[in-house]
Amino acid sequence: MTEAILLVGGKGTRLRPLTVHTPKPMVPAAGVPFLTHQLARARAAGVEHVVLATSYLAEVFEPYFGDGAALGLRLEYVTEVEPLGTGGAIRNVAERLDSGPDEPVLIFNGDILTGLDIRALVAEHRSAGADVSLHLTRVQDPRAFGLVPTDGTGRVTAFLEKPQTPEEIVTDQINAGAYVFRRSVIDAIPAGRPVSVERETFPGLLADGAHLQGMVDSTYWLDLGTPQAFIRGSADLVLGLAPSPAVPGRCGEALVLPSAEVAPGAKLTGGTVIGAGAVIGEGATVDGSTVLDDAVVGPGAVVTDSMVGRAARVGARTVLRGAVVGDGARVGADNELHEGARIWCGASLPDAAIRFSSDA
Ligand code: GDD
Ligand code: MG
Repeated sequence: MTEAILLVGGKGTRLRPLTVHTPKPMVPAAGVPFLTHQLARARAAGVEHVVLATSYLAEVFEPYFGDGAALGLRLEYVTEVEPLGTGGAIRNVAERLDSGPDEPVLIFNGDILTGLDIRALVAEHRSAGADVSLHLTRVQDPRAFGLVPTDGTGRVTAFLEKPQTPEEIVTDQINAGAYVFRRSVIDAIPAGRPVSVERETFPGLLADGAHLQGMVDSTYWLDLGTPQAFIRGSADLVLGLAPSPAVPGRCGEALVLPSAEVAPGAKLTGGTVIGAGAVIGEGATVDGSTVLDDAVVGPGAVVTDSMVGRAARVGARTVLRGAVVGDGARVGADNELHEGARIWCGASLPDAAIRFSSDA
């Protein structure tokens, strides 16, 4: 097992404004583009050749990762002119694979943080003699995912992407976004048109009697598709709760990248990351949050479970809880932004007037 395909072409719509200038897999998590963690984990599991299936903002991947040598990988890039969907993207890179028709090829969604034992998934695939094997995980609310019921032997009995009605919710096992495909199954996906692997390929394979095997695994798993999940995932990497060989430093309460300036009286906790060139003011508290490169957090600010974008500025005493401040945005002093607030890239919020009245 030496080859993998990484699906990194999605628009990351739910992650805006983090994904306005940066594709989702390139948004920093624990100090490096998120994709670095997935690539490093694949390498650690014995993968040597990775093909990146790109589409949205495709041009930013190659300048950063190059030929992959720095990660001990051989990396190739294939860009779709029009997005081809998950299945179309897989088919579109088929000619770059070296594997023979019966050999296993790994495929990963590009937004999943997980401790999955990749080698165990391949071993399960081989011992089951499956056409496709899927990593499955259990979640409280499966509606945003692909539901994958299995029989007593782990064989997949149905695939229901994003169920709409209560009757469709037949299991809490979901598609965790990591697969092993028999190479010949990839070649059989129709070429040159959009295909959803979840809505078309998997149901079609099941209807044709193919063997899809599910491996339920209860290790760390998170889809980083929303700002809150992304911020949580980054913090869990820093805390060491989510495993990755690519965290640039020791795991602990905070990761401060070289050239960041943190005032002596500032408090950094809960897996916080402070990016290169960022400045954290005196008395500020940053908990479970990500402050990207060159951002400024003013004195006395309180930033919890939030993301402060590249070169953004958070004013003195401002409180952010579960908020996202886009790249280059400015939030003036004494503001309060709560759960779900998103300030667009480059936007500007004035200082809050309330401080003047309370001072009066
Ligand atoms: N190249 C390419 N082209 N990649 C794409 C395209 C495309 O047209 N569309 C989506 N992708 C990539 C995304 O970048 C992401 O890495 C992956 O395919 C999955 O797309 P998402 O948009 O993140 O899908 P989702 O989270 O709603 O659902 C998927 O993941 C769930 C697990 O997190 C599905 O696979 C579900 O079945 C699954 O449960
Ligand atoms: Mg996703």
